[in-house]
Amino acid sequence: MAFSLSNVLKGFTSLGKSTEGSVLGIDIGASSAKIVQLRTSRGAAILETYGEIALGPYGGQAIGKAVKLPPEKIAEAITDVIREANVTAREGGLSIPFSSSLVSVIDLPQTEPEQLKRMIPIEARKYIPIPISEVTLDYFVIPREEGESSAFDRVEAKTPMQAKGQEVLLVAIHNTALRDYQTIAATAALKINFFEIEIFSAVRSSVAHGIAPVLVVDLGAATTKIYVVERGIVRSSHLVSMGGQHMTENLGRSMGWDFEKAERVKRERGLIDSNAYSTDENDKIKTALLSTLTRVFSEVNRVLLSYGQRYNKNVSRVVLAGGGASLPGIAEAAHGSLSAEVGLADPFSHTEVPAFLESVLREIGPGFAVAVGVALRKLKSS
Ligand SMILES: Nc1ncnc2c1ncn2[C@@H]1O[C@H](COP(=O)(O)OP(=O)(O)OP(=O)(O)O)[C@@H](O)[C@H]1O
Ligand SMILES: [Mg+2]
Repeated sequence: MAFSLSNVLKGFTSLGKSTEGSVLGIDIGASSAKIVQLRTSRGAAILETYGEIALGPYGGQAIGKAVKLPPEKIAEAITDVIREANVTAREGGLSIPFSSSLVSVIDLPQTEPEQLKRMIPIEARKYIPIPISEVTLDYFVIPREEGESSAFDRVEAKTPMQAKGQEVLLVAIHNTALRDYQTIAATAALKINFFEIEIFSAVRSSVAHGIAPVLVVDLGAATTKIYVVERGIVRSSHLVSMGGQHMTENLGRSMGWDFEKAERVKRERGLIDSNAYSTDENDKIKTALLSTLTRVFSEVNRVLLSYGQRYNKNVSRVVLAGGGASLPGIAEAAHGSLSAEVGLADPFSHTEVPAFLESVLREIGPGFAVAVGVALRKLKSS
C-alpha cells in the first residue's frame, strides 16, 4: 500500500513550518469537527483561534447526532468552520478515529530490531481481523524500566531490551480511512503533515506527565474511548459503543421530546436539578441521562480493575474528555461511581489564552482534547 509509516505516525518535519508559524490541530469526530490554531512564542503555545461545527446538519440530521458523511461533505464543514473561526493557518495535523484503527499491546519474544520489523506483519495477523494489505501498520516497543519515553516520541524511541520478552504497542489504521482523510484535506485545501490516532493526541493535551497510570475516558457522540496511560504510553485501550447520543435518545424517549429538544436540555442542565421542571421531571431527566452514563462507568470500573490485576498497579486517577464530559454535574456523578479520583480534561491549560476566555475554555475544553493535542504535536515538531 502506498502509505508509509512515516506518513501516518511521524510529522513530515522536512516540509517545514507554515509561513506564519501558526499550526492547526483538526479532529473530525462522529458528531462534530473541531479545529484549533496555535502558534509558539518564546516557548509557549498561544491559542490563536478555535472552532467547532456540528456535522449532523451536513447530513440532514440534528446537532449532536453521529453521522457518516462522504469526504466532500466533511470538507465543506471544515471549510465553513475555518471561515467562521477566522482560521488563517492552512497546515497541521489531523486525528484518526480510534474506531478506524486497531491498537493492541502484544507480547513478543526479545528480538533484534531488524527481526522485529519482519515479525510484526506476521504477528499482526493474529490481532487484526482483516487482510494486512488493507491496513497501515506501526509499532513501538514499550520500555521496561522507568524511562523518559512518552507518547510524544513513542515512534522514535529506541530502547534496549532488558529482558527475555518484550511488550509491543501495535497500531493499524484502515487504508480506506487514510484515503478519505487525504481527500478531505485536499478538498478543503489543507496541507496535512501527519495523521495521529486520536487517543495519542488526547494523552498529550490531557494527561500530566507522571509515573502513575491514569485512565482517560473520551465520551464522544456514538462511542466512548477508554484507555490507560502509563509514563505517557497507552497501555490498554477499549472502544465502547455508547456515547452522548444515547443519553439524548434516552432522554427524548423518557420525556416525549424530539432529539433537538432533548439535546438542548441535556447540554443546558445535565444532571443538575432545575426550577423549570417538577421534582418528578427532574428525577426522570436524571434517570434517563444516568442510564447510559452508569453503563459507561461500569465499563470504566471494569478496565480499572482488570488493569490493576494484570499489572499489579492501582490506577488512581480518571480524566474525563470528549464533549460528553461537559455534561453539567458529570464530575460529581463520576466521583460517586468510579473507584478512582476524577478530573475533567483541561487541554487549553497547555496554551496561553486571553483571560476573558479562560472560564469558557475550561467548560468546552474536554471536547477539544484531541484537536489541541494534535496542534501541540505539530508545534513541537515545527
Ligand atoms: N455541554 C454538554 N453537555 C452534555 N453533553 C454534551 C455537551 N456538549 C456536547 N455534548 C455531547 O458530547 C457528544 C459529542 O462529543 P464529541 O464532540 O467529543 O464527540 P465526537 O468527537 O463528535 O464523536 P466521537 O468521539 O464519537 O467520534 C454529543 O453527544 C453531545 O451531545
Ligand atoms: Mg471525538
